[in-house]
Amino acid sequence: MFITFEGVDGSGKSTQLRFLSEHLELIGRKYIIVREPGTTEVGEKIRDILLDRNNTAMSPVTEAMLYAAARVQLIDEVIKPALDKGVTVLCDRYIDSSVAYQAFGRGLGVDAVLKMNDYAVKNCLPDITFFIDVSPEAAGERMHSRTDLDRLELESLAFKDRVYQGFLYMAEREPERIIRIDASGSKQETREKILSHIGRITS
Ligand code: TYD
Repeated sequence: MFITFEGVDGSGKSTQLRFLSEHLELIGRKYIIVREPGTTEVGEKIRDILLDRNNTAMSPVTEAMLYAAARVQLIDEVIKPALDKGVTVLCDRYIDSSVAYQAFGRGLGVDAVLKMNDYAVKNCLPDITFFIDVSPEAAGERMHSRTDLDRLELESLAFKDRVYQGFLYMAEREPERIIRIDASGSKQETREKILSHIGRITS
């Protein structure tokens, strides 16, 4: 199974991914954890370019293509081979982040971003996506104390609002794949919600 986690920066999706991996460990499922952009050697180099706060001149199309480039590297090198062997793949961010950040946040539009990604992703789509639904305002509160913000995290609240709208749009567009998890409660409450879906799907 291919499972992705999505949400705005500071939504806590990485923590929830870890919780799910602990559950899979417990039930004896083979899994790997990957993150976007990155994981592969080439992908991590692309990540450095994308998140470098000095790269203020990056054009939105360059940005979108670099995310797609890192993605296809990850698919070819890691995701496809793992899925072929029956290993579950947990991925921190995937194509919905490109719709949210580049199509909505940067204003490139859904069609343009999906077209770029169609070429990269082909038919390697997640079986399930957990959209960890936390508003940008609430997520901002959680990130308040951090001082090491990257290029995307330094964007305005207006940008982050558009990103959030992008996730809501995708959740509505693909309700079969994307499960929206209200994460306004505690980490443990969110964990239980996710595990209840996993139980339903794997039983
Ligand atoms: P993330 O790994 O969530 O950052 P962190 O390590 O700080 O938790 O993601 C890196 C940033 O990249 C994040 O701000 C969202 C952005 N992003 C896009 O803009 N488009 C994409 O397609 C992806 C995968 C991420």
